[in-house]
Amino acid sequence: MAIPGHLERAIEIAAPHRTHPNPRVGAVVVSADGAVLGEGSHLGPGQPHAEVAALDGVDARGATVFVTLEPCAHHGRTPPCVTALIEAGVQRVVVGAIDPDDRVAGQGVEQLRNASIDVEVLDAPEAEALDAGYFHQRRTGFPLVTLKYAMTIDGSIAAQDGSSQWITGELARKDAHALRERSDAVVVGAGTLAADDPQLTVRLDGFDGSQPRPVVVAGRSALDGNRAIWGRDPLVYSTRSLELPAGECVVVDGDVLPDPEGICVDLAGRGMYDVLIEGGPTLAKSFWDAGVIHRLVVFIGGLAGGGQGMAPFAGRFSTLADARSLELKELKALDQDLRAEYVRK
Ligand SMILES: NC(=O)c1ccc[n+]([C@@H]2O[C@H](COP(=O)([O-])OP(=O)(O)OC[C@H]3O[C@@H](n4cnc5c(N)ncnc54)[C@H](OP(=O)(O)O)[C@@H]3O)[C@@H](O)[C@H]2O)c1
Repeated sequence: MAIPGHLERAIEIAAPHRTHPNPRVGAVVVSADGAVLGEGSHLGPGQPHAEVAALDGVDARGATVFVTLEPCAHHGRTPPCVTALIEAGVQRVVVGAIDPDDRVAGQGVEQLRNASIDVEVLDAPEAEALDAGYFHQRRTGFPLVTLKYAMTIDGSIAAQDGSSQWITGELARKDAHALRERSDAVVVGAGTLAADDPQLTVRLDGFDGSQPRPVVVAGRSALDGNRAIWGRDPLVYSTRSLELPAGECVVVDGDVLPDPEGICVDLAGRGMYDVLIEGGPTLAKSFWDAGVIHRLVVFIGGLAGGGQGMAPFAGRFSTLADARSLELKELKALDQDLRAEYVRK
């Protein structure tokens, strides 16, 4: 079912902002005769919530407020939005999705109804998709981890000599930058750091938002001090304390190599709910085996190696019974390449 145009607008204005650990939220205030009186989106911790921003300077008596997420009912860094809506005298609130946070979880709706405000809850998938990472983190305690890789049509993410730039064309690479734009952290293993010297930045025309935090998972070998990433204040996970040229070393448990679960829990604790893995096959395999990867974005380049290069996952796959089922979310062509997005069932 199509969502109301005003909710669509609230999603659109909220989408560009990096707000974690807070949710991305947008709100639109509409008068009884259908005129848009105000719009607002949350910009991040300590900033006004979307409803408050949208109500600012507006006579909202008798108005309808379209908001992507259930208004909060608790005192955080700012007072509850429910109070702001009641005090503004609004008549009706249309909520895109119920907030899964324990401190809200239906209480916002209940308090509005107790104040005789009409509330319609749409449970719209679009409203949840606006901040899938937030919903995932609140429900599971883990960030929403996406594994992204580019492979040739015959299944290699690099040639035998390690060369992989570029398997896909410009459009697909732009799309990959858009994925980074929506991520709080971009993670590689020591192997990719050594082989590719990646910057892990969003490089899109006109992009002037904040960059995702670069993350390196260190292993047994010393990390090369001469890498672009050191200029970007990386987080480095290791099972031992490391002297680094820059950034922060975080020690997590693990048997020689850092345990993916521990890394994910630490990232979520830092408010990084959208985590993009751009590592090579070794890191992909250990995160896959740990069961922390929720989404896969696979770019299939219009390129055939014609032989065995490097597989997307290191190690063996012995029997089909070990395979995990995935749900296809989207498939699109980008010039000669394909982009397939799957989530775990
Ligand atoms: N086409 C693509 O999309 C794509 C993307 C990324 C990379 N690549 C290619 O992949 C190749 C690099 O592969 P790679 O497998 O060496 O890179 P990687 O997976 O990024 O790094 C693997 C290394 O990370 C360290 N590590 C630390 N904790 C780990 C853990 N829990 N699980 C696994 N590894 C952990 C280990 O370092 P130590 O060895 O020091 O113990 C391990 O050897 C390059 O040729 C690169 O071009 C291709």
